[in-house]
Amino acid sequence: MTASAALPIPPTLDIHLSRAALADALQSDARCGLTSSPKQLPPVYFYDDRGSRLFDEITKLPEYYPTRSERWILDAHAKDMALISGADTLIELGAGTCEKSRVLLDAMQACGNLTRYVPLDVSDTVLWEAANALAGEYPGLAVNAVVGDFHRHLDRLPAGGRRLVAFLGGTIGNLGPEQRRRFLVDLDCVMDAEDRFLVGTDLVKDRDRLVRAYDDDAGVTAAFNKNVLNVLNRELAADFDPACFEHVARWNEEEQRIEMWLQSTTEQSVRVDGLDIDLSFDEGEAMMTEISTKFTPEGLEAELAGCGFVVEATWTSPGDEFLMTLCHPYC
Ligand code: AVJ
Repeated sequence: MTASAALPIPPTLDIHLSRAALADALQSDARCGLTSSPKQLPPVYFYDDRGSRLFDEITKLPEYYPTRSERWILDAHAKDMALISGADTLIELGAGTCEKSRVLLDAMQACGNLTRYVPLDVSDTVLWEAANALAGEYPGLAVNAVVGDFHRHLDRLPAGGRRLVAFLGGTIGNLGPEQRRRFLVDLDCVMDAEDRFLVGTDLVKDRDRLVRAYDDDAGVTAAFNKNVLNVLNRELAADFDPACFEHVARWNEEEQRIEMWLQSTTEQSVRVDGLDIDLSFDEGEAMMTEISTKFTPEGLEAELAGCGFVVEATWTSPGDEFLMTLCHPYC
């Protein structure tokens, strides 16, 4: 059968993270984070339907360059990535709407190697919709979607073929140094010698430019940040008033990262019924909701080397704003 005669293959969905398990994870993450000092929450809970839509809006803001910069690199170099990796299977971690994958899928198809696409995400609905759309658009492509969390389910990724594991958008920067190390070591353990890892990272740059990317004039990032309070209200029967918190984005020089915080504008108490706890906030007390680490090419290469990866190729966007790194496990 020639490629043009290939028929769409119905996608499959493997669920390694049920809705109940996701709800349990939110409970324990929230209990742990809200009773820590300072209070904090993991960024994965930003992305309910409204949060995902707001993030989509963020990617179009004039101040938020990372998405455009990465897209520029993909448009310019996806062909090289496909050629060098020689992969037939694309695995995308935190795939979301699978939008960025299309550029890589097209390049792999043009190389004549493409057989399978494996998007992994925690959101089953978005994933299933995207998987169906892609299966229709790429006749002959097997789409095996995986509902899972890249912190916990890397060992469930389907084996076989020559796999390119893509972790795009700078999402690896959401992990702290210890979490990153554990993630990279885990990934290294499940990769074969022929597999490749492609990671997108935002680069250290002018401080004001970084802060503005996370504190835009239109207030979209502020709405995105505060939306996590709506998620807690809905999922944990809490009574946060988003109007009593202010969005703060700051550059942490020591850790080389942007931090997003929600700062209480007043002394207040918040009931979280789902956890049976009452929280108290002092006036000006802030809760950390996200870190977004910025890298240097040398720093990232050293970090990868420390976790068992050898860098094979790197690409940067104009002005050295964003970096994509292709690497493989030692041996
Ligand atoms: C999707 C995690 C890469 O850290 O830049 C954008 C999320 N947060 N604006 C980032 C985000 C605030 C974004 N990542």
